[in-house]
Amino acid sequence: MKKINIGLLGLGQIGSGLYEILKAKKSLFERQLGVSFELKRIAEKYPNARRKVHPPPSLMTKDAFAVVRDPAIDVIVELIGGTTVARELIKESLKHGKHVVTANKALLAEYGDEIFELAHRKKRWLCFEASVGGGIPCIKALREGLAANRIDSVHAIINGTTNYILTQMTIQGTSFADALTGAQQQGYAEANPSLDIHGVDAAHKLAILARFAFGGKVKFKDIYCEGITAVSSDDIAFAKEFGYTIKLLAIAKKTGDGMEARVQPTLLPNSHILANVNGSFNAILMHGDEVGDVLFYGRGAGPHPTASAIVADLVDIAKAGAQGPAEDHFMVRALGKTIPVKSISSILSRYYLRFYVIDKPSVLAGISKILGKYQISISDVIQRERSAGRAVPLILLTHGAHEKDLRAAVHEIDRLPYIKGKTQVIRIEGA
Ligand SMILES: NC(=O)c1ccc[n+]([C@@H]2O[C@H](COP(=O)([O-])OP(=O)(O)OC[C@H]3O[C@@H](n4cnc5c(N)ncnc54)[C@H](OP(=O)(O)O)[C@@H]3O)[C@@H](O)[C@H]2O)c1
Repeated sequence: MKKINIGLLGLGQIGSGLYEILKAKKSLFERQLGVSFELKRIAEKYPNARRKVHPPPSLMTKDAFAVVRDPAIDVIVELIGGTTVARELIKESLKHGKHVVTANKALLAEYGDEIFELAHRKKRWLCFEASVGGGIPCIKALREGLAANRIDSVHAIINGTTNYILTQMTIQGTSFADALTGAQQQGYAEANPSLDIHGVDAAHKLAILARFAFGGKVKFKDIYCEGITAVSSDDIAFAKEFGYTIKLLAIAKKTGDGMEARVQPTLLPNSHILANVNGSFNAILMHGDEVGDVLFYGRGAGPHPTASAIVADLVDIAKAGAQGPAEDHFMVRALGKTIPVKSISSILSRYYLRFYVIDKPSVLAGISKILGKYQISISDVIQRERSAGRAVPLILLTHGAHEKDLRAAVHEIDRLPYIKGKTQVIRIEGA
C-alpha cells in the first residue's frame, strides 16, 4: 500500500470538499487504488472558526509555513487562493522537496513561469488539474489522452458564473442585474463577482490551457479580455432572431506566427455544440490534428467537482512515485519559448453590430457606405419598426472583416448625426 502524507493549506470551500472526500472514501481509495491518503496537517487562518467540516483539532494549525516545512509531509495541497501568500507557500513547498497540488488559476496564469520552472528544477510534481474546468479532466487529457495530437484550437466555456447569467438572460429573459443576483443567491457567484463578469477568471484559465495545449510560455497580460457586463437583453433577443446564442468564450487558436488568445462574449450559431452548454456547466472543445474535435463537459466549480480533480492529481503523484519526475516532458514543453499573442486589432472575424438610430430614410445606406469604405460587407440586417423621432435598434451581421477596419468603421459611424448611444460590437464564431 502506497502511503501519501498530505499537508492541506486552506479549509475553505474547496479544502472542505477535499476533506470530505478523503474522509468518506479513504477505504475505497485503499482498496481500488492501493493508496492510503493521510491528511497530516491542515493550515487555516482561523483554525477554530465554525465551518462545515470538523477535523481533529490536533491536525489544525495557523502556521501554513510550518506545514510546508514539515519533513513528514510528501504533498502540499494549496487551496488558499490569491497570488501573494500562496505564491510564497508553493515556492517554499517545492524548495522543501514537496510535491504540490493546487487549484490556483490566478497564480499559475500570472506567475506560472516562476512556479513551473522551480518545480521542474527541483524535480517535484506540480499538479493543477483543478485550476481549469473544475472537475473536468482536461489537463490530464492534454498530458496523456491527446498526446498524439498537435492541438490547433481551444474554444471553451470556463466560467460557470457568467454561463449561468447568460443562460438565465437567454432562457428566462432575465436582465443582467437580476441574473447576477440569482447567481449570487445560488452560490455560483462571489459577493464580489468582478473577476468572473469581467472575464478575468476565464482568461486565467485560458492562459493555462493555451500554455499546455500549444506548448510554450503565455504572457497572461497579452490575452485580450472582455467580460459580459455590456451584453444587454436586447442583444440576446436579437441574436436569437438571427439563430445565435451569446456565450462568454475563451478562445485560443494557433496561427503560423503565434496564437490568438481572447475571452469575449461571442455569438454562436444555435447548432454549435457550445451554444447548448447551459447553466453553471463548463465545456472545453479542443481540435487536434489527429483526433479532430474533442469536447469535455462538466461541472467547472464547486467543492466536490473541484476536489475530484485534486484527488486525481494526488492519485497521479502516488502512482508516479514520491521520488518525483526525472524529466517531466509535458512541463518542459510548456516552459519553451513564449508563444506570441496576436494583437486583437489584427484578427479576422464576423461581427454583430447593434446601433440605435433615429429612424429616417437613408440611415442604412449611410452606415453601409462607411462599412463598404473599409471593405466590410453585410450578411444580415434587422431593422425595427418605425417610431417617429425616437431611436430604434438596427442590427447588422457582417461577413469576415479585420478588427482594425471594423473598429475604424464603427468609430466613423458613431459620429453620424442619426446614431444615438454606443454601438455594440460582438464577434461571431463557428458560422
Ligand atoms: N470555489 C471554486 O469553485 C473553485 C473552483 C476551482 C478552483 N478554485 C480555486 O481554489 C482555491 C480555493 O478556493 P475556495 O473557493 O476554496 O476559497 P475559500 O473558500 O476562500 O478558501 C480559502 C481558505 O484559505 C484560508 N486562508 C487564507 N489565507 C490563509 C493563510 N495564510 N493560511 C491558512 N489559511 C488561509 C481562508 O481563510 P479566510 O476565509 O479566513 O481568509 C479560507 O478558509 C482558489 O485558488 C480558487 O481559485 C476554486
